[in-house]
Amino acid sequence: MDAVVTNTLAISCALAVVVCALKFVNLLWVRPKKLEKFLNNQGFKGNKYRLLFGDTKELSMMFQQSKANSNHINIDDGDEIISQVMAFKHQSLQKHGRSNITWMGWNPRVTIMDPELIKDVLTKIYEFQKPRMNPFVRLVVTGVVTYEGDQWNKHRKLINPAFHVEKLKNMVPAFHLSCSEMLGMWEKLVSTNGSCELDVWPHLQALTKDVISRTAFGSSYEEGIRIFELIKEQSVLAMEALQSLYIPGSRFLPTKRNNMMKAIDKEVNMSIKCIIDKRLKEMKGGEGTCHDLLGLMLESNIKEVEQHQNKTKGMTINEVIEECKLFYFAGQETTSSLLVWTMILLSRHQEWQSRAREEVLNVLGDKDMDMDALNHLKVMNMIFYEVLRLYPPVTGMARMVDKDITLGGLLLPARLQIELPIMLIHYDEQLWGHDAKKFKPERFSEGISKATKNQVIYFPFGWGPRICIGQNFALLEAKIALAMILQRFTFEFSPSYVHTPTPIVTLQPKFVPPHTPRASLHILESDDEEDPKEEQDVSQTLEVAYEIDFENNHSYLTRHFMVLLYLVTP
Ligand code: HEM
Repeated sequence: MDAVVTNTLAISCALAVVVCALKFVNLLWVRPKKLEKFLNNQGFKGNKYRLLFGDTKELSMMFQQSKANSNHINIDDGDEIISQVMAFKHQSLQKHGRSNITWMGWNPRVTIMDPELIKDVLTKIYEFQKPRMNPFVRLVVTGVVTYEGDQWNKHRKLINPAFHVEKLKNMVPAFHLSCSEMLGMWEKLVSTNGSCELDVWPHLQALTKDVISRTAFGSSYEEGIRIFELIKEQSVLAMEALQSLYIPGSRFLPTKRNNMMKAIDKEVNMSIKCIIDKRLKEMKGGEGTCHDLLGLMLESNIKEVEQHQNKTKGMTINEVIEECKLFYFAGQETTSSLLVWTMILLSRHQEWQSRAREEVLNVLGDKDMDMDALNHLKVMNMIFYEVLRLYPPVTGMARMVDKDITLGGLLLPARLQIELPIMLIHYDEQLWGHDAKKFKPERFSEGISKATKNQVIYFPFGWGPRICIGQNFALLEAKIALAMILQRFTFEFSPSYVHTPTPIVTLQPKFVPPHTPRASLHILESDDEEDPKEEQDVSQTLEVAYEIDFENNHSYLTRHFMVLLYLVTP
């Protein structure tokens, strides 16, 4: 009897092993090879599937090369820029054509560059969803950007009112205050020599962090700054975790990093919860008006629940917490990236810098900002659109097919990943004409639809129902910052500037290895008298500037100082 049981157990185990082995063979070889043939037959070409790794080794090597490259890239040569920023994609396009395949391990990802197909993918949000995120990333970023279906619908509806243009008007003083503080520092730096060489990148990053803390948390701004510091720390840990192969469940192991991540998560959530509790109490007591993103989001949440007399129509406190964290991720690096590339391109194209300044001085004079006047800054709009075309902070987006579907005559199987290479499309001469790679803001003189001939070939903020919720916020912030800079300074490249755009989550200027001799800002000042007390202030300010850089040295995302520009008062 015992022998029978033992034999049955042994056979069951052997069968289980065989079934598992067959499943593995299917997952890692049979399915990818079948998909390869299927996709090839539909016109998608790419490297042959290689067991387990696919194209990931080459992708990672080329990405590391781009990151390590410290050679100056010709700012006027679009091909050089594209092959630095999107090395693998650019190569695939040249080798395999516009409909190509990249093997992300054993999963194929097809690139789509046809405007009609892009439109379909970005419109049919239930059929084309976001690919699943690595669990470490999910620990850091969730919220509306990651949701699908009804959950996305509900959150988008509840958050939308906070970004309404009328509500953004009330945030202008917060934008203005943060910009004034940064420019006050620049003015001090310039006051000694009348010029100063400055790496503006860390300053612009600090500015957008300050802005998001003020506009997200209003009166709880100081706590907001601390919370966002912690979130940044958390993202550094998550990026470290992403460097190694993810073993399912490994995030639950009590490793040093996991423990730290858990502790930070707990502290961030507790701190935001305290702010929310305080705010809800104030709202119940009829105190204060809600001009910040948190207050507006809570207001819209309460209204929705009351209107339907149903708690499930609103967000839970934990969900509100996640949305607050998301504002930082989605809104900080992206907007600083837009600002820094604008300063770089206006350093290269001085004629556009002068035109933009002339417009600012005509429309605003040296006065403070007001929303109606800002709406009249047409040249500045054209410049921002063109900067976002040539240097989109988000260089590409991905989607995943939910169920087998036909797209423009192509049969796409469930779980197939789709890549929409924003930057490649923005540089494409077939779509934009022979001057696609040139900086020509005038192409937007009659708006985006005219410039794109109503095709979906320009989407720095995404497109369709999932278009960036913060695009007006970001453009308003950027407008105020640039207008205030232009009112006070002129700028040009420092001789030590190296043009090497690098995709590190967002598209960023080159980082210089640590301990490289530091560059300073050249700001020429017109008629301020020199004063010994002022000199002392300058040295103190310089220390502040140094602190910003050291802070960034700890960060994976924004490691070192990069942009060197001369700033000159007009
Ligand atoms: C220049 C600045 C910005 C750029 C270039 C940018 C770019 C984008 C892009 C490309 C998407 C679409 C992602 C996709 O569909 O896969 C997106 C979505 C999103 N962005 Fe932005 N963004 C910027 C600023 C902001 C700001 C300031 C905020 C908030 C404070 C924000 C919040 C969001 C959110 C919440 C989503 C998800 C929307 C949804 O899925 O419904 N973004 N952004």
